[in-house]
Amino acid sequence: MVEWWRHAVIYQVYPRSFADADGDGVGDLPGITARLGHLADLGVDALWLSPFYRSPMVDGGYDVSDHRDVDPVFGTLADFDALLAEAHRLGLRVIVDIVPNHTSSRHPWFVDGRRDRYVFRDEPNGWQSLFGGPAWTRVADGQWYLHLFDPEQPDLNWHNPEVREEFDDILRFWLDRGVDGFRVDVAHGMIKDLAGVTLFDHEDVHEIHRRWRKILDSYPGERMAVAEVFDTAPARVARYVSVGELHQAFNFDFLEAPWEPAVLRRIIDASLRAAAAVGAPPTWVLSNHDRRRHVTRFGGVRRARAAVLLMLGLPGSAYLYQGEELGLPEVLDLPDEVRTDPQWVRSGGEEPGRDGCRVPLPWSGDAPPFGFGPGGSWLPQPADWAGLTVEAQRLDPHSTLSLYRDALRLRRPSDALRWLDAPDGVLLFETDTMRVAANLSGVPIRVMPATPLLSSNEMAGELPPDTTAWWTI
Ligand code: GLC
Repeated sequence: MVEWWRHAVIYQVYPRSFADADGDGVGDLPGITARLGHLADLGVDALWLSPFYRSPMVDGGYDVSDHRDVDPVFGTLADFDALLAEAHRLGLRVIVDIVPNHTSSRHPWFVDGRRDRYVFRDEPNGWQSLFGGPAWTRVADGQWYLHLFDPEQPDLNWHNPEVREEFDDILRFWLDRGVDGFRVDVAHGMIKDLAGVTLFDHEDVHEIHRRWRKILDSYPGERMAVAEVFDTAPARVARYVSVGELHQAFNFDFLEAPWEPAVLRRIIDASLRAAAAVGAPPTWVLSNHDRRRHVTRFGGVRRARAAVLLMLGLPGSAYLYQGEELGLPEVLDLPDEVRTDPQWVRSGGEEPGRDGCRVPLPWSGDAPPFGFGPGGSWLPQPADWAGLTVEAQRLDPHSTLSLYRDALRLRRPSDALRWLDAPDGVLLFETDTMRVAANLSGVPIRVMPATPLLSSNEMAGELPPDTTAWWTI
């Protein structure tokens, strides 16, 4: 049997914005548990939970102050156990986020002045934070500490064996509770060469992943880990998923690709090659909690639907981000005063930040908060989301939700792909089980006489522009 993660479709849940059970306007674990039926109906294999640990929430939970507890805003450890049990009962695996590059500045280590576990120096180098401004902050006695992200997210010192041991133990804590794996935040960041120019992808970071792989392999049940390695070439990313390291890495080249056939084909080929060279599955992703939603990026839901059928027709594993199955666009007009993302705050409003893809999901009803919870929602939802709720789309066979459900039911994952000759602007390939055509040209094309198994838009004979179709072979 092939390991489950090689072909899995994994759905990202951003807990603050999925579903709110207690009415405080922020999503929580009981809210997720109550809505797991939606994910089972959709037909995904697993969910990835963004952080729900104790956190001051400066960076939406990516600033962890206790890695072994649930933040009260999200519930309790008992709520987590209930979520996991219900997911497993429904046949869904659960992977959780692990944030090893930094902690919150309220983490007891930082509060207690354990400078040996962080990166303190007498002089800063010139590095800039990814959220804008310098990557160093000065403390009262004149020393500086490094933070690749917010000043409230001090970077850990991974040369200190105590840091390594602590994370071994954190992994075991969640594995013992029964999680199926981890999404590793900034997996290329833990080791720094302060004298050098590269902030990321230092050679010695691989030692940490090899150590973690051994821990994962010491548990039964095909536990896995997926690495977040951004701004890195495919051949370098592949090293994180080579033998003895992690299982998957996100495909940021695909996530960042424009809706252009030549670019997509080049990225697909490079991704397949890089993954095959190390025996890892290729992965694909169109949206996540850090990027502008692809409906908006591609210029409309029609292209977004074509893009997802293209993605789900490819070999390997795919990641979905909550709300994309509803065709949600990015919310571009959030009022300044509701924005919370440090990217927005730290850039003095120059960067719009990531709140626009984190607006709480619309589940039902005609008015905000659209069934998100009994209270309001921490970011306002657009009034015209009434037509995009799960309830509004569930029984409509032409809805985006139905398209995702059909695609996940009909998807026949394969390990290989062959390109076929096609007119300009058309991506046409066969896998072991399907023929897939995506028409990115401006004109209808004739591809196959047979009726497709599934298409992203209505078609009769010809494949219209901005449409993808699947045929059985
Ligand atoms: C990752 C997360 C992002 C977070 C950053 C710092 O890139 O996806 O949301 O802000 O790490 O933890």
